[in-house]
Amino acid sequence: MNIYKPELVRIVDIIEETPDIRTFRLEFQDKEYQKNFSFLAGQFAEYSVFGEGECTFCIASAPTRSGYLECSFKLAGKVTAAMQKLSIGDTMGLRGPYGNAFPIEEMKGKNVVFIAGGIGLAPVRCIIWNVLDLRDQFKDITIIYGARTVADLVYKRELEEWKQMPGVQTVITVDPGGETPDWKGEVGFVPTIVGKVAPKAENTIAIVCGPPVMIKFTMPVLQKAGFSEDSIVTTLENRMKCGLGKCGRCNIGNVYVCKDGPVFTYKQLQELPEEY
Ligand code: FES
Repeated sequence: MNIYKPELVRIVDIIEETPDIRTFRLEFQDKEYQKNFSFLAGQFAEYSVFGEGECTFCIASAPTRSGYLECSFKLAGKVTAAMQKLSIGDTMGLRGPYGNAFPIEEMKGKNVVFIAGGIGLAPVRCIIWNVLDLRDQFKDITIIYGARTVADLVYKRELEEWKQMPGVQTVITVDPGGETPDWKGEVGFVPTIVGKVAPKAENTIAIVCGPPVMIKFTMPVLQKAGFSEDSIVTTLENRMKCGLGKCGRCNIGNVYVCKDGPVFTYKQLQELPEEY
């Protein structure tokens, strides 16, 4: 069996999230394969455009919603440029799922705070829907999401949906200067808004994903609020190629992001060599 051989998937829907981010909804061509396919929130896949190559994205849809997969991608290089040209009905390749997952069992019975920036909401969206689909197994849910400008916010329909849900506190922000005249959300960088929302740390797990600078400044805010390094979880999708622990492209020291991650606690990240 060739472990690098992709399964064929068909694009059944395309959503223009922002001027440079799109979401594809994909279905396996082989219906039997689709039926038996399963994954966990936090895992990733390798997506291929024939003749162009492969690239890595998390699975952005939730495992609690079967029958399809979604991925969101930003235009960044040859493969995503080729993906931009695809239309509904076109075929791509998909390998996966790979990697570890968010600790959903550990999160049960606890409050959960989701913090995301930019396209970093993609992996977090997967676990948000997973949690919301099993709502009664979790306590209070807080979602804090920010992007550079109003136009850069992804999953706009869902942000509205989450805002309406009872027992879910949803706070959306844009960077200073990124607001429009009719913007009703917050204005401020994500770490500042986390400080303002001040989620309580007791019996709470924080899931954080976004640009490195956002992560860097959010961590001290959470720690000041009393979150331990063990109760903060993030995901790294960087530098992956094979997804299988074979090419050596993703390692940080002797940790393979594709196999040991992409999900790590903040404590585990602190133990990685400086280059991270
Ligand atoms: S992506 Fe190839 S070893 Fe991790």
